[in-house]
Amino acid sequence: MCGIVGYIGTKKACPILLVGLSRLEYRGYDSAGISTIEKDGLSLVKDKGRVKVLESNPEIEKLSGTIGIAHTRWATHGKPSKENAHPHQDNSKNFSVVHNGIIENYNELRNMLEQNGYHFLSQTDTEVIPNLIHYYYTKNQNNTVNGFLQAVRDCCIALKGSFAIEVISKLFSENMIVVRKDSPLVIGTSATEKYISSDIPAILSYTRDFYFLNDLEFALLQNDKATFYDQNLNEIDKKTSSIEWSATASEKNGYEDFMLKEIYEQPTAIRETIGARVSLDSKCNFEELNIQKDYLSSINKIYIIACGTAMHAGLVGKNVIEKLCRIPVEVDIASEFRYRSPIVNEKTLSIFISQSGETADTIAALKLAKKCGSRTIAITNVIGSSITRESNYSLYTHAGPEIAVASTKAYTSQVILLNMLAVYFAELLETSDLKTINTIKQEILDLPKKIEETFKCKDQIQDFAKKIYQEKDVFFLGRGVDEAVAKEASLKLKEISYIHSESYPAGELKHGSIALIENGITVVSILMDKTLMEKSISNIQEVISRGAKTLIVTSHPCNENMFDEIIKVPDTISYLSPIISIIPLQLLAYYISKEKGLDVDKPRNLAKSVTVE
Ligand code: G6P
Repeated sequence: MCGIVGYIGTKKACPILLVGLSRLEYRGYDSAGISTIEKDGLSLVKDKGRVKVLESNPEIEKLSGTIGIAHTRWATHGKPSKENAHPHQDNSKNFSVVHNGIIENYNELRNMLEQNGYHFLSQTDTEVIPNLIHYYYTKNQNNTVNGFLQAVRDCCIALKGSFAIEVISKLFSENMIVVRKDSPLVIGTSATEKYISSDIPAILSYTRDFYFLNDLEFALLQNDKATFYDQNLNEIDKKTSSIEWSATASEKNGYEDFMLKEIYEQPTAIRETIGARVSLDSKCNFEELNIQKDYLSSINKIYIIACGTAMHAGLVGKNVIEKLCRIPVEVDIASEFRYRSPIVNEKTLSIFISQSGETADTIAALKLAKKCGSRTIAITNVIGSSITRESNYSLYTHAGPEIAVASTKAYTSQVILLNMLAVYFAELLETSDLKTINTIKQEILDLPKKIEETFKCKDQIQDFAKKIYQEKDVFFLGRGVDEAVAKEASLKLKEISYIHSESYPAGELKHGSIALIENGITVVSILMDKTLMEKSISNIQEVISRGAKTLIVTSHPCNENMFDEIIKVPDTISYLSPIISIIPLQLLAYYISKEKGLDVDKPRNLAKSVTVE
């Protein structure tokens, strides 16, 4: 998805903007550009391709302005090209704009502007924005900085769709205006500098103090001042939030790839997410929830809604919540939920999981659930993200910034949080006995150490990856909660190795898909749930008889001669086992991708944070 960076301060803007853009590369993009306020007007340098192409443009060296905006574009309207790359300018070249999001009524606005004498150079929806700002700026006949603000505001009110926008003008050489609606944008601040970005990690090395904008709030920035306005341009008060992530958290710190680093960060991420919530001497602590027993007893359903890997964490959450709390849990994909006229009302508690907190479908589903009368909990990794501003309650995973597109530590942190939430609910409702609760708590506390032990399988996994990296298809099987892990493992493999893979409940394979099993095909099975192990082994026997090569992940004793490869992992209770069993499978996807020589962190066609529908 598109990335935005901005700088207004006392140093040259261009180098800071280029570093910011390279830190946003992981979001996925196809062109990049920059505009700064120079003595002779607005600069504009942009091109198709990587940030490196932009860096090597001879025009870049000439930029010395201390205010600038920059962008990486992920094409939606119009192919990747120099003309379509951002920033865009109005016809008079008074305003430069970068935009993330989609302007749904751009055709209508473009026609109106064309009738008023404006012409367009690109096929983008974005180009209407600088021209519309110019249109209102001229119409309003107010040449002060308030007139600039009024024109940006009038433009944004006319836009339908989603946007995060930065605007600079050669007429106001000390200012920048930024605004957002349904698209991410954060403002980092220090005494004499303001940094703007689509996400926190890109500017974390400069400041820990951030302003977060709500929809249609405007920030008028100077290097030493930030003034905020609502959509009617009434001034509003805004406080900064301090971000606890360390400045180097978004660096590779000696690892070859972010994904590998993030896999190895899982013990810490889990430890941090557990924090002080769990102890054997007291009840689970979720004081920020302010949910009472009466309310919890009154609901008849919990909905868990998310996309991608976060949805797979939801499937694990369903298992533990249903078993401990005896409340039916439905898990849905956000993009489906929002259009299925879901049965949600005040008797439904809806939980939304999103690492980034910016996924457009998840946020739209949350708004819908709220409208239907449901209370909403957001589980996210990013403080101040959009989802936290929309939900009744926000629960944070403390995984630290996740940069690799394929989610690893965010997933396991979500799973541990859901387990703790289930225990918290069960304690409130008194639906589980003390012994069960204490066993889970002890296992939660022991988990970071067990993850560390799990890493011992690394060499074995690496060798196995060498054997199968050229395969065309891989199957993943599991029963019960192991099936949720099979889904996540299959997704990991697809995402970064481009190998076709499918996951099935082990008992379901024989109802059709076993037709695909042929000599030599790899079938990976997760056998962590002891109670279902024998049943699953019978199913694996069926694929072995048809020539499949088998790898199993288990913590239980099994017939060594039966399988081609056995990955032994530490034992834990089945509620938590998805956190252990996914680790060798994350490593498997990683090493297969490496064997194939692929870009592990930035797989083709994927974006880390999907901020459009
Ligand atoms: C994208 C990412 C996935 C992620 C999903 C949901 O598709 O590539 O890794 O699981 O979005 O993202 P979220 O930030 O809402 O968890």
